Amino acid sequence: MAVFWKPMAAGLLLTVSLTLLGWGVEVQGGTQAKKVVSGEATVYLGQDRDIWRPIIHTASNLSDISSIKSTFQLRTFDPEGAIFYGDTKNGDDWFVLGLKDGLPLMQFSIGGNHVSAEGGPQLNDGKWHKLEVSNQNNFVILDVDGSKGLVVGMGGPSKQTEEVQTGELRLALGGILIDKEKMMIQFDPKMDGCVREGSWLNLRAPWEVEVEELWPCYQDIIPGSFFPGTGFAVLNTSVFPVEDGKGVNIEFRGNFTLMHGTILSIRAPGQEIMLTLMADNNTQEVTLTFGSEKISMKSDDLKKLVIIFEEEMLQVLEVRAKFQGLQIKSVRNSGFLTTWRNGRIAFGGLLGEGEDNVGSQFLTGCLEMIQVMGRDLDLDLTVKHPSIVSHSCPA
Ligand SMILES: *[C@@H]1O[C@H](CO)[C@@H](O)[C@H](O)[C@H]1NC(C)=O
Ligand SMILES: *[C@@H]1O[C@H](CO)[C@@H](O)[C@H](O)[C@H]1NC(C)=O
Ligand SMILES: *[C@@H]1O[C@H](CO)[C@@H](O)[C@H](O)[C@H]1NC(C)=O
Ligand SMILES: *[C@@H]1O[C@H](CO)[C@@H](O)[C@H](O)[C@H]1NC(C)=O
Repeated sequence: MAVFWKPMAAGLLLTVSLTLLGWGVEVQGGTQAKKVVSGEATVYLGQDRDIWRPIIHTASNLSDISSIKSTFQLRTFDPEGAIFYGDTKNGDDWFVLGLKDGLPLMQFSIGGNHVSAEGGPQLNDGKWHKLEVSNQNNFVILDVDGSKGLVVGMGGPSKQTEEVQTGELRLALGGILIDKEKMMIQFDPKMDGCVREGSWLNLRAPWEVEVEELWPCYQDIIPGSFFPGTGFAVLNTSVFPVEDGKGVNIEFRGNFTLMHGTILSIRAPGQEIMLTLMADNNTQEVTLTFGSEKISMKSDDLKKLVIIFEEEMLQVLEVRAKFQGLQIKSVRNSGFLTTWRNGRIAFGGLLGEGEDNVGSQFLTGCLEMIQVMGRDLDLDLTVKHPSIVSHSCPA
């Protein structure tokens, strides 16, 4: 076990860095032109692709590795995703650092022994955190912002004392290079986050980019779901079961003056659309349409909008910056429960007629919070267009 350990740890410790605009050097590799970036590059991890595939990766001979430490910075509001991967022996021995519930999660397998550990500080607060992964004797150590984050030890005597120092070490960001079934703790790898200023062991070789073009990391971000106007997120309303006698609340927060397009639509297949909520940045109004009823609201100092469905009534609550109080508008509601049980709910677009989730009038803007029945909605759990960023908006 010790055998592989040193180089492995070394793998962990790599650093990557590159400035936002520094991508895109073309290198001729055989017949194919491959894009490469420096290990110090700023890399957005949440880009659209096959979700387990890394954004960038590199490889090096184990014999070239002399450091056991990798450092990098991470910034995210996303509680879950894959950050950093390393392996040797073509993936027989591997290491993955990710987040789950906002906490660091390390999983690795060395010589067939699986280890996983979760803990340390909450990292998904949208601030840059400095992470350092190192290996000392039989321990893997994750330091966060200069303090001990997570220490994982591997027990038992080493099976071999002679280290095999040949072969290849592979590193990847934003995904893994082995079968996802090998993860002991399952997680959703897609990470709406950024890594920068990486220093990966002592490796200086450029990293290969797996995607056509790297998406940017914004200078400043705020929590929320960002809709660029090219698609929507759809759910079956049945995922939010309604208890008898109880209603349904849907709450939105954000700067409504900056939004344009459909915020919400609800429809049962084969029926007329039940409800739409649209923002218009020209008229500076948000309009709720429910059957033949229309409620228009000035968007200028609107901070929060709550739609409450009750058995016989639909209410809209407006919370504004200038008023302490609420404005409540009500319309009669019948048949809502039937649609709710069979229908679909879309955020950021207008549902089409059929079952095939064709949408239109997509939203441009940031929904800083979406809550259904009092709970934050994670758009990663919906069927959503890849252009939608689920946990952060450019500020
Ligand atoms: C590893 O070493 C071999 C032989 O020295 C060399 O051909 C190969 O290109 C090296 N690989 C990497 C990734 O540096
Ligand atoms: C909604 O449910 C249907 C059948 O129950 C399923 O085929 C479909 O994929 C679901 N749609 C979404 C958006 O989850
Ligand atoms: C919304 O954005 C506009 C333009 O940036 C800004 O002037 C306004 O103060 C914002 N409104 C709120 C409620 O934050
Ligand atoms: C309204 O939003 C659209 C889509 O983002 C944008 O193209 C347009 O410039 C905006 N118009 C105004 C008046 O802000």
